[in-house]
Order: sequence, then structure tokens, then C-alpha cells
Amino acid sequence: MLGKLAAKPALARGNCQAFPSEDSAARCALMSSTFQLDTGTSRANPMPAPMKRLTVPAIQRRKFKGKTEQPLVMLTAYTARQAQLLDPHCDLLLVGDSLGQVIYGLPSSLQVTLDMMCAHGAAVVRGSYHSVVVVDMPFGSYETSPQQAFASASRILAETGCAAVKLEGGVAMAETIAFLSARGIPVMAHVGLTPQAVNTLGGYNARGRSQQEHEKIISDGQAVQSAGAFAVVIEGVIEPIAITLTKTLEIPTIGIGASAQCDGQVLVTEDMLGMFERVPRFVKRYEEIAETISGAVERYATEVRARSFPGIDQTYQPK
Ligand code: KIV
Repeated sequence: MLGKLAAKPALARGNCQAFPSEDSAARCALMSSTFQLDTGTSRANPMPAPMKRLTVPAIQRRKFKGKTEQPLVMLTAYTARQAQLLDPHCDLLLVGDSLGQVIYGLPSSLQVTLDMMCAHGAAVVRGSYHSVVVVDMPFGSYETSPQQAFASASRILAETGCAAVKLEGGVAMAETIAFLSARGIPVMAHVGLTPQAVNTLGGYNARGRSQQEHEKIISDGQAVQSAGAFAVVIEGVIEPIAITLTKTLEIPTIGIGASAQCDGQVLVTEDMLGMFERVPRFVKRYEEIAETISGAVERYATEVRARSFPGIDQTYQPK
């Protein structure tokens, strides 16, 4: 609880320490015992923060002379509580526009709005203090002009407190990436299978099988680096493309359906936790959370119908 802060005067004075990135166990211990997370929805973030947040330059430095000793760990997060649980283990949290499908049940990410991204981005920042939080720019909020992109991105940064935005596109978005980066907005690019372009791509299949498309994705990666992107997500491409980009780019590559040789990996958290029956082939399911939820709710429903819940422990008696 918050009261425990007083037990660690060095940290309570705001003398926060950054932990070596490899020490996620230490981070976990600190965040879950010394600074027990207050999970009350209105008091999600203890003050002072127990540690310094990673920064965009620190993420970039993880790739040195073309090599990343320790791969970057990124997962999507959309809510404060989810962010609290993921934060000790991750370097980056992505408030992806995949929240359209995952949270809102929309048919694609095309219907996602800036309002949604700002609300969820702010929740994830409130629920984390270690990871760099990156918020996706939704479809239609940045493609018209660099000025439109700046207006949307600056709103996202101001309203959420996140450190960076992500946008889809390579060569076509290079001017916009340069415009934002030169004006203090770190940009993570996204090339290969770009879900916002589902209607031009014709689906969510792996990209880069033709020589022409292979070359285009390589040029896209080079263009976003030259424009000033600090990192690039490479999604759903044949592995040789991801390997070439990882070897030739100086900025970190973050793969999803790409290659283990990328400088980091990202997945949609609900996919890897087993919330959905159908997931893309590149997803590894680390849990079967949907079954756990379904089982718990079934037990609850049975007890309510049998009037065995609430029991004596969950009811108030007169003193
Ligand atoms: O929206 C999202 O979640 C993403 C990741 C899948 C990279 O863009």
C-alpha cells in the first residue's frame, strides 16, 4: 500500500534508481513488495515513482554497432492494471490500435479514434513506471500532412504522458517522420504487414514474397531510419527481410511474425495469453486465460444460483 513508501527513505526522497535492464526479477521484487502496487482504480500510481522510467535514447542505445546484446521486450497494453502487470518485465509497452478489435470488438483498426488512443494511452502511463510507453497513431490522424500528424501526435503526448508515437508506413511516411522527430516527437515506424492498409493489401497475409514487395519493404525500413525513426516494427514478413533489415539498420528492429533475429519482439498480450480462440500463426500462446476466466465465471454463476454466494465471509452482520 502507499503507506509502505515510508519504509524505504532513500527511494521515498525521490532518489529513484534505474535498474539494469536484465534485472527484471529485481524490478519485480521492488515493484511488488517495497512499492506494493495500489490497485485501487483511482490511485494506480504511487508517488514518488519507485524507479526512473526508461527513455527513448536508452532504448536506442541497446543496439550498439549493429548488435543488441539483450533483445527488447515489448507487449501491447490498453489498461492501467494490465500495464502494472506487464511493466516490470517489459522495456516498452505499446498502446496499439489493435485495441479496436481486442477491447472494442471492432472489425479492424480502421475505426479506432484519437479519443480512444488518448484514453487508453493515459491509463497505461498511469499504470507503469519503468517501460517506455508508445501510443499508436490511429488511421486518418496523420496521413494527410506532417502538420496534421504533428497536431495528432502532440495531443497524444500531452494527454497521455507517453514518450513516443507509432505510425504505419515507410517511404510514404518518411517526410512526416522527419517532421515529427525534428519537433521533439519520437517516432516508432511500422513496416511490412501494416494492418491499417488492410484494404490495399487485401488481407493479413505475410508480406514480401514477391521480389518487388521484398525490395519495397527493405526500402521502407531504410527510409524510416533516414527520416529519424528511433525504432521500427517489422510485422508479418518472410524471415529473410527481417534479418536483412536487422543487420543493415542502426535503429532497433522489433519483430512480430518476423524473426527471432530482430532486436526485439512484440505481441498482442491478449493473443499470447490465450484470450482468443483464433490467433495468427506467429503467436505463441503462453497461457490459456480464456479457459481460466470461463471456469471462474461458471463457478460464480453456479454459486449465485444455489444461493451459496455471498457466504458468511462476504456479508456484513450487525456488531
Ligand atoms: O496495434 C498493435 O497492436 C500493433 C502491434 C501488433 C505491433 O501495431
